[in-house]
Amino acid sequence: MKRLKKTHNMLYLGIETSCDDTGVALYNHQNGSLKHLLYSQLQHSDFGGIIPELASRDHIRKIMPLLQTLLAKHSYQLADLDGICFTNGPGLLGSLLVGVTFAKALAWSLSVPAMPVNHLEAHLIITMQANPDLKFPFLGILVSGGHTLLVAAKDLGDYQVIGHTLDDAAGECFDKTAKLLGLGYPGGAKIANLALQGNSSRFTLPRPMLHSANYDFSFSGLKTKVRQTWLATKQQHQDKCDIALATEEAIVDIILKKTMKAANEHQLSQIVLAGGVAANTKLRARFKDACAKAGKEFFVPTNSLCTDNGAMIAYTGARYFAHASKYQDLTIEPKSKWPLDAI
Ligand code: KG4
Ligand code: ZN
Repeated sequence: MKRLKKTHNMLYLGIETSCDDTGVALYNHQNGSLKHLLYSQLQHSDFGGIIPELASRDHIRKIMPLLQTLLAKHSYQLADLDGICFTNGPGLLGSLLVGVTFAKALAWSLSVPAMPVNHLEAHLIITMQANPDLKFPFLGILVSGGHTLLVAAKDLGDYQVIGHTLDDAAGECFDKTAKLLGLGYPGGAKIANLALQGNSSRFTLPRPMLHSANYDFSFSGLKTKVRQTWLATKQQHQDKCDIALATEEAIVDIILKKTMKAANEHQLSQIVLAGGVAANTKLRARFKDACAKAGKEFFVPTNSLCTDNGAMIAYTGARYFAHASKYQDLTIEPKSKWPLDAI
């Protein structure tokens, strides 16, 4: 495989197709310029969740035009690319296969190296791109549709998972509540919007495992209670708003309190909130307050970099490109499961 040909102004392409969002990005490692485009598949809304085969087919349709649009918008050509970074897992295998195959074919045809990126690591470290003050080690709380992980991030590629969900992920709890209330998929932002009109004194939902001796999470009991509560109402608009607020409050409370406890016990002074659920306004605000009170530094990506995107893949891959020994050959295969502590 051809090695990098320049020593400055390296331009990396990032490709994200782990789930239902097609993301492409261009990252210039020297001047930090990061441009990205995202295509979010809306077709899944009608089904209340992702249909994997439809997701793969849509990635195939969208990936090339999206890349062409991104390059044209910023006056670049394929020949300007110095390396291709791609999500190699974890995720839906059919979706990953589209991005991985596309990335490898492109790298081969351009004679540039390709770099597999772990999607979870990318969620965790994208905040570092805009925050030079954020350094390893830090405590990461990754809350997305597929994961709820508390992580001691020690170095690039060196992560210790100190807690995880035993059942549903936090985002899944938002999404399933949204489905129950007839709001469509994905539901997190819709629940947050309805919660703005909610009455906070009407329902109090349980906070499973809030006081457990470990840092694990469980959201399935909360989900069951949400269902029982909803079925006991007249199912009017105000009932939806009140349930949305109570659900949001419970999820925010659990995530915040467990994270602050872990930060104290592991003596980590920098906290990173990451993943799609980190786009939640209430969660961000509560973390900001709690960190200020506890003397911790708080970091969270801008909203568009919380949910899946190609920018986090380009940035993370670029960091690995700095270590020549980590280049991969083109026989690499996608991994639907790829834990953070196995990078
Ligand atoms: O990171 P992400 O885009 O995809 C995964 O890797 O899973 O996260 C998607 C999740 C969905 O469950 C979605 O409902 C949730 O993030 N989400 C939110 C908000 N925006 C997205 N949850 C709560 N509040 C939001 N504003
Ligand atoms: Zn994600």
